[in-house]
Amino acid sequence: MDTIEQIPALRQRLGGEKSVAFVPTMGNLHAGHLALVHEARRRGQCVVASVFVNRLQFEPGGDFDRYPRTLERDATMLAEAGCDVLFCPTESELYPQKQEIVLSAPAVARQLCGDFRPGHFEGVVTVVAKLFNAVTPQVAIFGRKDYQQLQVIRALVKQLNYPIEIVGIDTVREADGLAMSSRNGYLSPAERAEAVRLNRALRSVVDGIRAGARDAHSRCALAADELSRAGWKVDYVAARDADGLGPVGATTRELVVLGAAWLGKTRLIDNLSVSLVAAASGSGAVAIA
Ligand code: PAF
Repeated sequence: MDTIEQIPALRQRLGGEKSVAFVPTMGNLHAGHLALVHEARRRGQCVVASVFVNRLQFEPGGDFDRYPRTLERDATMLAEAGCDVLFCPTESELYPQKQEIVLSAPAVARQLCGDFRPGHFEGVVTVVAKLFNAVTPQVAIFGRKDYQQLQVIRALVKQLNYPIEIVGIDTVREADGLAMSSRNGYLSPAERAEAVRLNRALRSVVDGIRAGARDAHSRCALAADELSRAGWKVDYVAARDADGLGPVGATTRELVVLGAAWLGKTRLIDNLSVSLVAAASGSGAVAIA
């Protein structure tokens, strides 16, 4: 695997490649990231992963400073997973000047995490655009765990006419169901044991819908309540149309239940989807309130 810090060297290395599959990350890698690399391996002749902790997407007072930097370990994991090129720019390489040009985030960002993390999605679209400009991949792979981010990136590519196919990969989970995340490392042993409650709360909403319940929003409120009673600070538990995160309506075929909540000083997110077509089979029309 080649490790490259500078954009001109990266362009030179990738110049002759016919198909580049790209996995952008902030490092501190886990099995979820490796699943993205494996998918990239299937889709591109050349697999590029980036490791860059993007200050611009951390809100003031966020965890930018304490975000784990584990580049050596990340590089070993990427090489073993079949990555061809690791792009790990310094901050001054990717942001050579004060960043005055910041992309605005699309409408899909103005809800859910966007309501609680001011400036976050603007920072994400700006850095992802910079990374796309540097790597010029044919395909880019993102995790569905950051479901709203995936929708934001799809809008970015569409609205800025990037000729890049965006692929979303299912969340990889620990044995008890906790979604893998770089932030799980912040949890104390007691918090780690408690953390799975978020997934269970979302699952209770989805199971209810699968069993025929049509009151998704009140079930989300119950799930949020259960988390609060267990000591979590809930940002949201919400049901949306999986296609674009609009409100659930008569044309919704797949619904996604998303949650974000704080366990102590750690903010965790997760989501689960449910097909309403499958949920409705044999039971007539679906109407979700
Ligand atoms: O999902 C992430 O790790 C980051 O938001 C991304 C896409 C690498 C941009 O910094």
